[in-house]
Amino acid sequence: MDLYEAMRTCRAVRRHRPDAIPDDVLRRVLEAATFAPTGGNAQPWRMIAVRDATKRRTLRDLYLPLWQEYSKEYMRVSAGLTGDAATKRDRMLAAANHLGEHLDVSPVIVVFVFDVRRMSITDDGLGRPSVVGGASIYPAVQNLLLACRVEGLGCVLTTLLCKAEPQVRALLEIPDPWATAAFVPIGWPASKGHGPLTRRPLQNMAFGDRFGGAL
Ligand SMILES: Cc1cc2nc3c(=O)[nH]c(=O)nc-3n(C[C@H](O)[C@H](O)[C@H](O)COP(=O)(O)O)c2cc1C
Repeated sequence: MDLYEAMRTCRAVRRHRPDAIPDDVLRRVLEAATFAPTGGNAQPWRMIAVRDATKRRTLRDLYLPLWQEYSKEYMRVSAGLTGDAATKRDRMLAAANHLGEHLDVSPVIVVFVFDVRRMSITDDGLGRPSVVGGASIYPAVQNLLLACRVEGLGCVLTTLLCKAEPQVRALLEIPDPWATAAFVPIGWPASKGHGPLTRRPLQNMAFGDRFGGAL
């Protein structure tokens, strides 16, 4: 598959079949993640591919109440949407509810962890939340998502479980000071799967020479 095509169609796919992912396919998508850039090539992140059914159930039990809380707030702030936007929101919420209740059905949940001591953080002390550390983790997550797209696997980047980090660290025996950054359930799509994305047009996202300037 052409890379541009993969990027244009790599949807959040939240409904998965329980069928196993062959080892060679899993290794390919995990290896794709390792080719991502990191500050100083430190690679301060690791992946834990959670296949154990009991552990996946525990992750679901931790995730569901977090999602239920988050979705209440999401509904509140998006209550004014109408027409096409409301339809899209409802479709997304239905899929996300499904994921919350069935997270354990995905045959693999890839947990990204990081070691903050080995990250290049060049935006600390600016009086705003620092984001640069994440730039040494999330390109790897995106590589994983795109590799899944090419393999025909459904996947979605989630972060809510970071709120349950102490429990996740105990469950997966993650040593101090490694911390959690992302949770990616992966499985063969149970319904339509990937497809064209809805995003803001380029002119709203890219400027020329000054913020807001026409490209
Ligand atoms: C930082 C981040 C955190 C996310 N966390 C969750 C999550 O906890 N649960 C979930 O169902 N989706 C989560 N998503 C998926 C987004 O909702 C999804 O990428 C977005 O709605 C675009 O979906 P689309 O690519 O299908 O258009 C997250 C995405 C990102 C980038």
